[in-house]
Order: sequence, then structure tokens, then C-alpha cells
Amino acid sequence: MTQPGSSAVVTGDALATMKTLGSGTARLVLTSPPYNIGKAYERRVPLEDYLEGQRAVIREAARIVVEGGSVCWQVGNFVEDGEVIPLDSMMIPLMREAGLKIRNRIVWSFGHGQHCRRRMSGRHETIVWATCGDGHHFDLDPIRVPQTYPRKRAYKGARKGMLSGHPLGKNPGDVWQIPNIKFNHPEKTAHPCQFPEALAERLVSALTMEGDLVIDPYAGSGTTGAVCSRLARRSLLIEIDPAYAEIARARIAAP
Ligand SMILES: C[S@@+](CC[C@H](N)C(=O)[O-])C[C@H]1O[C@@H](n2cnc3c(N)ncnc32)[C@H](O)[C@@H]1O
Repeated sequence: MTQPGSSAVVTGDALATMKTLGSGTARLVLTSPPYNIGKAYERRVPLEDYLEGQRAVIREAARIVVEGGSVCWQVGNFVEDGEVIPLDSMMIPLMREAGLKIRNRIVWSFGHGQHCRRRMSGRHETIVWATCGDGHHFDLDPIRVPQTYPRKRAYKGARKGMLSGHPLGKNPGDVWQIPNIKFNHPEKTAHPCQFPEALAERLVSALTMEGDLVIDPYAGSGTTGAVCSRLARRSLLIEIDPAYAEIARARIAAP
């Protein structure tokens, strides 16, 4: 794991594996944990027990991230008896309790999903971005998006006649429209709940530098690792299911 872009996939438990890692070793911990909603890859437990588990993993994430590094938790809803509880509302207190500072609650919006009959159909999930300390690394340039009016110029003042927006584009904001991974998506693997590479790519590009180590403790199909390989970041992926870990290995090895 010394070369930029080198990666490892550990088949094992997130918490147990994180406990073996040194403090301050990663620039970014980026993950999407199970939501405790009874997916094939998780065992549904009482919400309190689930949150206790997440508390321990988030505490470890805060420990293994370097000062100025970041922790990103991508989550949706916990649903019980028809009641919907957005998990970010539960994760933010756990992240703050672990000493992290919340920088953004990013809304990831997408067009497809379950059609609900007795509430609005859910068409977004969130990413909670928190940092270890205040001097955090944040590189806006690689994630800029096109200006709405790219040729607009200042019409008065010292900058009169000059481009009024940044020539590389504007800040993407905290609402990201990125298609989710459904059956005909080119990134689709056998994993039921991948997040898109475009989502991981924005976070890895802005929050890390080439050669940095990124850890995903609930790696699934290895999306985080695939993006890190492409962007010359090192990655350590942890995944409890051997079949998904194998998919992740294949993805990070792909050209
Ligand atoms: C929401 S999915 C992550 C999907 C991933 N972001 C991707 O793009 O493929 C959560 C993953 O956590 C794994 N998992 C569940 N419990 C785990 C544990 N205790 N330790 C490590 N992985 C676990 C599941 O098998 C599942 O693949």
C-alpha cells in the first residue's frame, strides 16, 4: 500500500478491522453503512442497538483519520412501522460526540426509487461530511461545475469587462443530482445497494490529495476503491461478505 493508487480489500468486520489500524493514518473515511432496514447483507436489530454499533465505528473513524482529514457517512432512512427516520439526524450527534466537526449535509437527489402510497416517494439520501479539526483539506477546483452564465462579465467597478464567475466553474453546492444505480446502469454489479462513482469521486477529489489513504469500512462492491484507483489515492476497503469483497477486488484491479 505504498504506491499511489494501491489498494487492499480486507474480508472482515468493520469495527474489528478498524481497531487494528493506527491513529491518524487516513485522510478520508468514506462509507455507506447498512441502514438496518433488513437488506440481504444485514441483520435488523432494535434502533438503539444499531446506533450503538454505529457510535463505535464512527469513534474509530474519527481516531484513524489524520488532523485535517474527513469522515463522510452516506445514509438514507430507517423505516419502522411506516415511520421514517432520516439516519443523518442520528449520525450527526454521533459524529459530533466523536469530536468531529460537521461541514456539510449534502443532499444526493435521484430520479428513481420505490413508489410510496401513504407518503411522498423518497428521492434523496444524504452525505454527512465532518472533519477532524479546523484546518481541513478542501480542494474546490477539481469538483467545480459549469457556470450558469459562463461568459457573463462584470459591468462596473474595478473588474468591469472581466469574467464575473470563476473560469473553472462554480462550487457544486450541497444538493447533488446524480442518478442512482439501477439495473441498466453501466456501473451495476451484483451488489444491491451501490452508491455511484460520481458521488465518491467528488468527495475523494475535494477531500484528499494524490497518494493519500482512503478507508471504506462498509465497502460493498468497492465503489470507493475503484474511484481511488482511478484518482491515484490508496484505499483500504473492509467488507464482511466474501462475495462482495471479491467484486470489490475485481473492480479496483480493473484498468
Ligand atoms: C450500503 S452497502 C455499501 C455499498 C457500497 N458503498 C458500494 O458502493 O458498493 C453496506 C455494506 O456493508 C457490509 N457490511 C455489513 N455489516 C458489516 C460489518 N459489520 N463489517 C463490514 N461490512 C459490513 C454489507 O455486506 C454491505 O455490502
